[in-house]
Amino acid sequence: MISCARAPVPGPPVRVTQSSFGKTADRTAVDLYTLRNKNGMEAAIMTYGGIVVSLKTPDRNGNIDDVVLGFDSLDGYLKGHPYFGALIGRYGNRIGKARFTLNGKEYTLAKNNGENHLHGGIKGFDKAVWKGMDIPNSAAIELRYTSKDGEEGYPGTLQATVVYWLTDRDELKIDYTASTDRDTVLNLTNHMYFNLAGAGNGDILGHEMTIFADRFTPVDAGLIPTGELRAVSGTPFDFTQPHLVGERINAADEQIRIGKGYDHNFVLNSGIGTLAQAARVREPRSGRVMEVMTTEPGVQFYTGNFLDGSLRGKGGKVYGARSAFCLETQHFPDSPNKPGFPPVVLRVGERYQSTTVYRFSVQ
Ligand code: GLA
Repeated sequence: MISCARAPVPGPPVRVTQSSFGKTADRTAVDLYTLRNKNGMEAAIMTYGGIVVSLKTPDRNGNIDDVVLGFDSLDGYLKGHPYFGALIGRYGNRIGKARFTLNGKEYTLAKNNGENHLHGGIKGFDKAVWKGMDIPNSAAIELRYTSKDGEEGYPGTLQATVVYWLTDRDELKIDYTASTDRDTVLNLTNHMYFNLAGAGNGDILGHEMTIFADRFTPVDAGLIPTGELRAVSGTPFDFTQPHLVGERINAADEQIRIGKGYDHNFVLNSGIGTLAQAARVREPRSGRVMEVMTTEPGVQFYTGNFLDGSLRGKGGKVYGARSAFCLETQHFPDSPNKPGFPPVVLRVGERYQSTTVYRFSVQ
């Protein structure tokens, strides 16, 4: 006899799970969304700051490690931290003297880095609670935030949307979109701190870095670009061929001295608007490789020079000096005051759009 019973059709795999991650000081609930792809890669993102809390990828032997710095609980983040994994807005990096002029009017921003404005001010997007929504049938999470007119000094009510996608090609893809009801300036990024040997697993000096940039933007003592686009050739900033991060990080070079290592914007050869490769990083012991693709014209390469071992992160691990690096895709720092840099003005009726992809593999 032929049986008509059929095996149950398996439903789509569960790609996103949502859990509570605690409450902020003003009792706002924070959720954690965990995205999984079919290869076992996992990204956990919370609604506070849109922070990537963990990013787990296999090494060449299949051992899974968390490759981003952060804390086990919301409390660690609420106590204060240097933007671990956070969405940065309205303006990633610095605006000199915390002011700019737009349409003939001068705007004064919050000063939170000496006399300068850094990463959106005192309460930037990294400290906002975003509204989270999962996207059906994909390992993705959409986050929305409305930034009020005048917030941290910026004009216009801004509607920002960020979508994190974890693809089956082992990519964490971030799509940023925004619109405004008054002309404003905008420069969104994410501030993940990577250590491809695993977060808390020593320093990143042995990572091999390639940055597809023939020029960088040298800075003054306050880390504000001078406006010059300087050739990297013959300097410690030449990563057009792979170099170990530690090879020239203590070089007798004025820019290295000012940055206390690397803390500079690189001018990507790919230009603006098309998704193109910005950087490739390889960690020889684990075999992990991370490629960064972006539509942005620049990337801030920061070697965790301000980490000093005073923060204990996930699993109680000490995050010492240079225990992570950041590759913050962006428009150039201080662009609102630098007519020679690609513009960062978002006008009424325009749609801001930016995409960055972090692709993981092993070698
Ligand atoms: C960016 C800046 C650095 C530092 C870190 C956060 O990368 O360029 O100077 O402020 O963020 O500590």
